[in-house]
Amino acid sequence: MANNKRIYLCLAHMSEAGLEQQYIKEAFDTNWVVPLGPNVTAFEADLETFVKDERKAVALSSCTAALHLALLQLGVGPGDEVLCQTFSFCASSNPVTYCGAKPVFIDSEPDTWNLDPVLLEQAIQDRLAMTGKKPKAVIVVDLYGMPAKWDELETIGKEYGVPIIEDAANAMGSYYDKKPCGVFGEIGTFSFNGNKIITTSGGGALLCNNEDIKKHMVFLATQARENAPYYQHETIGFNYRLSNISAGIGRGQMTVLNEHVRHHQHVHALYKELLGMVDGIVIHDNPATKFDSNFWLTTITMDPSIKVKGQENQRTVFSDSEPNANVEALRVFLDQKGIEARPLWKPMHKQPIYKDAVAYVNGVSEALFKVGMCLPSGPYVSDEDVHYIVNCIKESIEL
Ligand SMILES: Cc1ncc(COP(=O)(O)O)c(C=O)c1O
Repeated sequence: MANNKRIYLCLAHMSEAGLEQQYIKEAFDTNWVVPLGPNVTAFEADLETFVKDERKAVALSSCTAALHLALLQLGVGPGDEVLCQTFSFCASSNPVTYCGAKPVFIDSEPDTWNLDPVLLEQAIQDRLAMTGKKPKAVIVVDLYGMPAKWDELETIGKEYGVPIIEDAANAMGSYYDKKPCGVFGEIGTFSFNGNKIITTSGGGALLCNNEDIKKHMVFLATQARENAPYYQHETIGFNYRLSNISAGIGRGQMTVLNEHVRHHQHVHALYKELLGMVDGIVIHDNPATKFDSNFWLTTITMDPSIKVKGQENQRTVFSDSEPNANVEALRVFLDQKGIEARPLWKPMHKQPIYKDAVAYVNGVSEALFKVGMCLPSGPYVSDEDVHYIVNCIKESIEL
C-alpha cells in the first residue's frame, strides 16, 4: 500500500494557510457562535462571486435542505409530481417526498449519465396525458461533477413551462459551455458535505434568481419567523441555516476551490493515461468540448467479460439489483489493498423505498450500475497513489 495509508475516495482538505481556523477563531472571538453572522454573509458573497453574480446565494445546513426549499419555492405540494433523475443519490429525490409530492423517475442518456432530454420530453407529455396535469418541476443532477445536457434540457423545460432545479451537489467548479454549474434552470444547489469538492463539514447552498427569493428562502430556513417583537408564525418553517462556524470553514475553502478542481482533473487525466491501455475498462470522460467536469470522482465501467481475482468466491448469480460479480470482486480486491472504491449510484427506481414510483427508463442507469465503479479522486490522492491504484487494478485482472 502506498505509504501504508488507506486511500479514500475524497477526503476533506484545508487551506495551507489555515484560513478556515482563522475564520472560526474570529467567530469565537466575537461570539458569533450562531446560525447567522459575518462568516455566513461573506461566504454567500464569495459564492455569488464564484457564479459570476448570475445568482443570489443562500448558505444552508445541507444540499438536501436546499433541494427541499427549492421545491417549496416552486410551489411543490401534496398531489404534485416532480420529475427526477433516477441515477443519483437519494438526496436528489427524497425532498420531493418531504413535500408530500411524488417523484417520477427519468433515466439517463449514455454520454453524460445525466437526465435524458428525449425521455424528459416523453415523460412530460405522458404525465399530461395520464394525469391531466403538468409535472410541477424537474430535478436534474450533474452527477459525479459531469454537467448535464443543459441546452436541450433548458429548452424542453421552457417549451413546456416546467421549471428545472439543478442539483449541482457534485459539480461545484464544473462548467457547461463556459457557464458554471449551479446556475442552470430556475434554482441551483451545492453540497459542502465532508466528501465534496469543498466542505463546510456539512452544509449546502441554494442559488436563486433574485434578492426577493433569497429573502424568502432565508425566512423559511429560519423557522419562518414573522417580523414581530414576539414569536409569530404564519407558515411552517425549517431550521436549515448554515452556522457562522461552518461558514467560516466555507470561506477558507473558497480559497482552495480552484486548486481542488485542478487536482481532481489532474487525477482523472492520470487515470486516463494509465488505465487507457487496459482492455475492457473505460473511463467516463467529457463527451464534447462544451462539457468541463470537475471530475469530483473518477468513474470507470468494466466489461462483464473481465475476470477479476477472487471472483470465483463471489456468488455466481447476481440479481439485477446488484453490481456484476467482477465489479464486486474488484471492490473487495482494492479494499484489501487499502483502497476505497464504490459502485456507482443504484438508480432510485430500483430502490425499495421507491418501488411504487412511476419511472421512464431506457436501461442506461441500470446497466451503468452493474458495471461501474468510483475511484479515489480527492485532494489527498497523490500521483503515486494513482499509480498504485492502477497497478492494483491490473493485478486484480485474471489474464
Ligand atoms: C447528487 C447529490 N445530491 C444531493 C446530495 C446531498 O448533499 P448533502 O449531503 O449536502 O445534503 C448529494 C450528497 O452526496 C449528492 O451526491
